[in-house]
Amino acid sequence: MQKAEDTIYGDALPDLVATMKDTVAFINGLRQGLTAMYGEDPVEHLAYRIKSDKSMREKLEKRGLPVTREAALTQVYDAIGIRIVCAFRDDVYTLRDLITNSDNIRVIEEKDYIKNAKPNGYRSYHMIVETEGHYVEIQLRTISMDTWAALEHQIRYKKDMDGQNLALITSELKRCADELASTDISMQTIRNMIRKMS
Ligand code: GTP
Ligand code: MG
Repeated sequence: MQKAEDTIYGDALPDLVATMKDTVAFINGLRQGLTAMYGEDPVEHLAYRIKSDKSMREKLEKRGLPVTREAALTQVYDAIGIRIVCAFRDDVYTLRDLITNSDNIRVIEEKDYIKNAKPNGYRSYHMIVETEGHYVEIQLRTISMDTWAALEHQIRYKKDMDGQNLALITSELKRCADELASTDISMQTIRNMIRKMS
């Protein structure tokens, strides 16, 4: 068994875990506030992790960076990763705004792959933030976007697929991503109508 101190994070690991937990607690606080206000939890589920020792080493190597604790904490921004999965599209932006306005969190970078989807159809709102002296990658997305990303992730590891099949699957996945995005907008519209009625 590998001891915690033996990972690339060394004795910074407990501190990383503490920052992750504090940030998750902060997000759960935002959820509670929004639930009290709207009577519905905006978050369908929340996932978080410290990047595994193996993935971190591979990422540093791939990027030509030194495989050191220093580089893992300062050159790579997703040692701490949090994924917020929302039922509705507007909730993604509501949480994004609340996170941005927090006194304890400094936003370093944002990528809106919802308004500007990746060419393969990938959608999510990505934030790199800094809090308690650590970087945290926060991904916000809807359930549909999350489902799509999980499926797309699977095909990356199907290395034995021939070119023609891969091209077909890639274009079918892209089509699904676009259909899911338009369904997300319809679902959002329906919720807005329901809220107006009540
Ligand atoms: P990384 O080296 O992965 O950090 O790339 P980057 O710095 O260009 O970041 P980007 O914001 O594009 O993506 C970061 C993370 O978003 C990835 O580690 C994945 O979790 C997720 N992601 C980005 N693009 C895709 C995609 O096309 N499909 C899926 N399934 N996930 C993606
Ligand atoms: Mg990244």
